[in-house]
Amino acid sequence: MTMVLDEVVGRETRHILQTYRRQPVTFVRGQGVRLWDAEGREYLDLLSGIGVAALGHAHRGLARAVAEQSETLIHTSNLFYHPLQGQLAERLANLSGLPRAFFCNSGTEAVEACLKFARRYWYTKGEPRAEVIALEESFHGRTFGSLSVTSDEHYRAPFAPLLGGVKFVPVNEPAALAAAVSRSTAAIIAEPVQGEGGIRPLTPAFAAAINEACARTGALFIADEVQSGVGRTGYPFYFAALGLKPHLVSVGKALGGGVPIGAALVSQEVADTISYGDHGSTYGGNLLACRAALCVLDELVGGGLLAHIGRVGLHFERRLKAIAAKHSMVKDVRGRGLMWGLELSRDAAAVVPAGLERGVVVNRTAETVVRLLPPLIITEAEVDEGLARLDAALGAVEAGS
Ligand SMILES: Cc1ncc(COP(=O)(O)O)c(C=O)c1O
Repeated sequence: MTMVLDEVVGRETRHILQTYRRQPVTFVRGQGVRLWDAEGREYLDLLSGIGVAALGHAHRGLARAVAEQSETLIHTSNLFYHPLQGQLAERLANLSGLPRAFFCNSGTEAVEACLKFARRYWYTKGEPRAEVIALEESFHGRTFGSLSVTSDEHYRAPFAPLLGGVKFVPVNEPAALAAAVSRSTAAIIAEPVQGEGGIRPLTPAFAAAINEACARTGALFIADEVQSGVGRTGYPFYFAALGLKPHLVSVGKALGGGVPIGAALVSQEVADTISYGDHGSTYGGNLLACRAALCVLDELVGGGLLAHIGRVGLHFERRLKAIAAKHSMVKDVRGRGLMWGLELSRDAAAVVPAGLERGVVVNRTAETVVRLLPPLIITEAEVDEGLARLDAALGAVEAGS
């Protein structure tokens, strides 16, 4: 290890709660799709901090907006009005079709809020329902409610007992979903593209089964768009591409471009059952976070980023599939827009350090999947450069070096 890394790791080992197994690299600077470590080595970032740095690093407009807002007013709490929350909620309503927003600070809080609002809906209607149907391979976060609808036993077991009444059904099996949902079901929760579970888009047939089950039983549908939303797939939200009709949508990650903010988007039908004091957050939707999110949405819609993702996403798909065809250990390529996974016939862990050695940042999820979530501003030339480095990393892993 180098001096800087030695010192950083030493201090963290003594004082940081050891919940993360980190790669041995210390990033200190970024620009666009590139990162630099403490030794000055450059990397092409195909992960954007797990789908967060949508505008890339050190984006001039976002940096200016955040700096200017910090010099004006950062936080006042939700005891008072400020001008930006309503503006952001209006923009999200136009993008999603859900008229109301509740702001929080992370993805798990957005899911937590959706789960609470679903319970509140049935309580207000005078027929409380507690059952939630979730999917196998799902990931919704680490707080108790979100963890309760996350399927991975490894994350769940040490924290039992979790919320009762959660049933898991296999993803993309319409008959299994139809059989599980009944008039006791408060809500179905699903990621339109499963992220941590290995980049698995829901099929149109499964989406239709969700709509049908909701219509038949009155169950609410919660679309968890924390990873797939805010343009990642080339759509503002992927539920729309599948024809899904959510009553609640959780949003996080890319929304603030790196400034923490989450949101639960709420249909009018559900909103009508919520009262003052039902939920809250001290930081939720403060001026700084809203200003950052407004800047991200400006770029996404007015700035032409959505159209860009559509074009560059197709290029990404073509290049990735060409590279995958060269490596026999790649079993499947799945994704949409700028959200991709390479499923390997072996554990994908070795690809991450092999990538770092060759100057590309990727991540492993679901054991065997290499996950790619580049900044949404990535150009075709940068895609070629990043994927060439990934190609070399895959080659090195295959060759056992
Ligand atoms: C679909 C989905 N929901 C919720 C979360 C939790 O978000 P956060 O880590 O911001 O709490 C994640 C995080 O990866 C996610 O991918």
